[in-house]
Amino acid sequence: MHFTSPKEKIFSVEISPLWQQQKLREFCKSKNIVVTAYSPLGAKGTRRGTHEVLDNETLKEIANAHNKTVAQVCLRWALEQGLSFVVKSFNKERMRENLHIFDWGLSLDDYKKINEIKQRRLLPKLEMVSPNGPFKSLEELWDGEI
Ligand SMILES: NC(=O)c1ccc[n+]([C@@H]2O[C@H](COP(=O)([O-])OP(=O)(O)OC[C@H]3O[C@@H](n4cnc5c(N)ncnc54)[C@H](OP(=O)(O)O)[C@@H]3O)[C@@H](O)[C@H]2O)c1
Repeated sequence: MHFTSPKEKIFSVEISPLWQQQKLREFCKSKNIVVTAYSPLGAKGTRRGTHEVLDNETLKEIANAHNKTVAQVCLRWALEQGLSFVVKSFNKERMRENLHIFDWGLSLDDYKKINEIKQRRLLPKLEMVSPNGPFKSLEELWDGEI
């Protein structure tokens, strides 16, 4: 997690349809804190990332039904959640793809499916855990929310 600006209370955390962070987002809303989703595609292709988001079968099914990509479904979902998000691509086509999320929407049926996706923290930040540091296990680091 990362406070981008303590003054404006903008807070960035891992969020994707596979780790929706409902509890944290409700808390932030109650405190007027804007939540930014980082790694909304699961950071596939990075050393710390995972293919699990873009390879998720439920998201693939939804994407096919809308003639969109899984990345677009993830970003449209984040947009509809009222989240700001930081998505990264070095590829021109994928950057363009990631921008085409404003002229269509997810259905109630899509939401039903997305809400049934098993929730799991995908980027646990194991590098923050050390026997000599303040957080000795992932359970301690994330207050059991892993
Ligand atoms: N504040 C923090 O603590 C924190 C933590 C993590 C990340 N971040 C930042 O958040 C930003 C985004 O996070 P991230 O890079 O970790 O994860 P991400 O945006 O979820 O995933 C990036 C990966 O997805 C690929 N990708 C992008 N668009 C795609 C598409 N339409 N279809 C298929 N693959 C696509 C990219 O590959 P290509 O480049 O080949 O397209 C890249 O490998 C980064 O700038 C990162 O630095 C901040």
